[in-house]
Amino acid sequence: MRILSGIQPSGFLHLGNFFGMLQRAIQWQEKGETFLFIADFHALTTVGDPEALRRNVREAALAFLACGLDPKRTVFFRQSAVPEVLELSWLLSTVTPLGLLERCHSYKDKLAKGIAPTHALFAYPVLMAADILLYRADVVPVGIDQKQHLEVTRDLAAKFNQDFGPVFVVPREDIEESVATIPGIDGQKMSKSYGNTLELFGDREEFRRRVMAIRTDSTPIGEPKPIAGSVLVSLCRLVSEPQELEEFVASMRRGGVGYGTLKKELLAKLERFLAPFRERYEEMKGKSGLVDEILDEGARTARAAAAPTLDSARRAVGLA
Ligand code: ADP
Ligand code: TRP
Repeated sequence: MRILSGIQPSGFLHLGNFFGMLQRAIQWQEKGETFLFIADFHALTTVGDPEALRRNVREAALAFLACGLDPKRTVFFRQSAVPEVLELSWLLSTVTPLGLLERCHSYKDKLAKGIAPTHALFAYPVLMAADILLYRADVVPVGIDQKQHLEVTRDLAAKFNQDFGPVFVVPREDIEESVATIPGIDGQKMSKSYGNTLELFGDREEFRRRVMAIRTDSTPIGEPKPIAGSVLVSLCRLVSEPQELEEFVASMRRGGVGYGTLKKELLAKLERFLAPFRERYEEMKGKSGLVDEILDEGARTARAAAAPTLDSARRAVGLA
């Protein structure tokens, strides 16, 4: 079974990204042959700054490797290192009804956010279909926001196969609906756009400052603290053993412990949890050559996997 997914390089990664994305992607490598790429061609539809794009791609690569992606088990590469995907995207676009793209929510959502309505933004789902079909993926794990793009992919594969013969594997989606929303320090969903994140690999002093600034209520030290809706408890749950979590919650219920003390306890647990990843990140950060080598090696494997599919598609339409 071949599992494939792409991730948009979106900058410095936070705890929400870790539990909602990185950790899951790393678990796929236990389940089958995994292809994972950094979708830099896609990122061009929204990132207009070359330096930011380079930095974001590098940051994503480092973060995945630091958090346990094993390049021996996962084919890890940059989307743009396999330009064959653009040729396939063109072939697929010849069977893509305009109406199908016009119905895509993500295009409309992006316009609503003020992103420029370019052809690339409109054609985004066709390139995504090419990403998936080029590597003959069987299963594509994605978040619920990508469900419609998977439907487009399946439609295009079926249409192409019907018109030109059986070239593509029609992939199965694996929608991850159950990802819990990790709260940020203000209690809203943790997100870069809300400025409420705890960065995985950022400045340690800033990390400490932000944990100490987590939103709490004004219950006095002596009183029992509310558990429901507590950001402290939600974050503690992510990084503690069950026994530790129980003790943390019990000390809140008992009262007599102030929020400052509870935050310090949480900080220690978060830092303990992140320590091995941070250590590996620092180690890899100094070896930019190594990260490039891993991505290049991944791209070689990916290109070899892509070649026969593109060849069949070219033949099928009469180009070869
Ligand atoms: P941001 O909201 O900070 O811009 P992104 O949209 O770049 O984050 O997130 C990339 C992926 O990380 C998302 O598809 C989602 O799977 C995961 N993710 C981000 N924030 C959270 C969160 N607060 N809780 C759970 N998962 C999250
Ligand atoms: N569009 C996806 C996102 O924003 C990223 C992506 C690009 C992708 N190509 C893909 C995901 C192929 C799965 C398969 O999250």
